[in-house]
Amino acid sequence: MRNFTSVSDVENISKLVQSALELKANPYKYKHLGENKTIGLIFLNPSLRTRLSTQKAALNLGMTVMVMNMDKEGWALETQDGAIMNHTTVEHIKDAAAVMGQYCDIIGVRSFPKLVDREEDYSEDFFNKFIKYCGVPVISLESATLHPCQSLADLISITETKKTAKPKVVLTWAPHIKPLPQAVANSFAEWMCKADVDFWVANPEGYNLDTKYISNAKVVHNQEDALKNADYIYVKNWSSYEQYGKILTTDPSWMLTLERLKTTNQAKVMHCLPVRRNVELSDEILDSEHALVQQQAGNRLWAAQAVIKSILETI
Ligand code: CP
Repeated sequence: MRNFTSVSDVENISKLVQSALELKANPYKYKHLGENKTIGLIFLNPSLRTRLSTQKAALNLGMTVMVMNMDKEGWALETQDGAIMNHTTVEHIKDAAAVMGQYCDIIGVRSFPKLVDREEDYSEDFFNKFIKYCGVPVISLESATLHPCQSLADLISITETKKTAKPKVVLTWAPHIKPLPQAVANSFAEWMCKADVDFWVANPEGYNLDTKYISNAKVVHNQEDALKNADYIYVKNWSSYEQYGKILTTDPSWMLTLERLKTTNQAKVMHCLPVRRNVELSDEILDSEHALVQQQAGNRLWAAQAVIKSILETI
């Protein structure tokens, strides 16, 4: 694997999951792989899990890790080709990425969407330019449209807890007070569409995801209908893709309750975190035996380590 920016970069998904589980059982087996190799982790937005899990994963593989909060510590980046840079941006991405590529063997990048111009965000202009100019393998630590490290951790969590060969997995929209990206939902959907699961998406009218991520999913607008016999429920807010970046509703009846879990197959409830308690997901679920959120967060480490290992094996 050269870059890890979406499920499409993965040749064999099951093998990558098995690699992560092998690393979970034996974290330091491949410590020699990253000797004298450096990973740079570049954040244009905040992070807890992605930052710490990727750093720890690289350390487990013997790598040197450099972390930069580009939004606070770096120069403001310009991305437009041919820009006359006489306003707020100080350094062009083609210069900055090329410099970072000389210091690092692998670079992880987080860059959220602006949620203003759908075409611009969904073109992944920033990521594509970063990959083009840095000249080394790039790992997405969440882009404008996708969060593959999270989705791999989610699939690992399902794989190690599932009780049936083909579980029913429901991705359900939940309310939130701020407009959030579609990246986690898009990414979870595209990974689930390639996994051996019965995949459903439940969201209010106006919140349908881009169809390219939900190819063989069943999409419904009634949460209760979707939850029947569910084995896993992935709760996540996202802003509207159709009326791009807008909050169309904050209807609290979309917040999952223990009562609503009664029709499920004792479903496990998933969320990528951070979560706004009692807005997006209730205390009664997060603090119950249904919650899988801590296991998911723990598996971020093994997901990142499997991805970095796979890239190290090719360079
Ligand atoms: N789930 C996730 O990516 O968490 P952070 O934003 O804290 O990295």
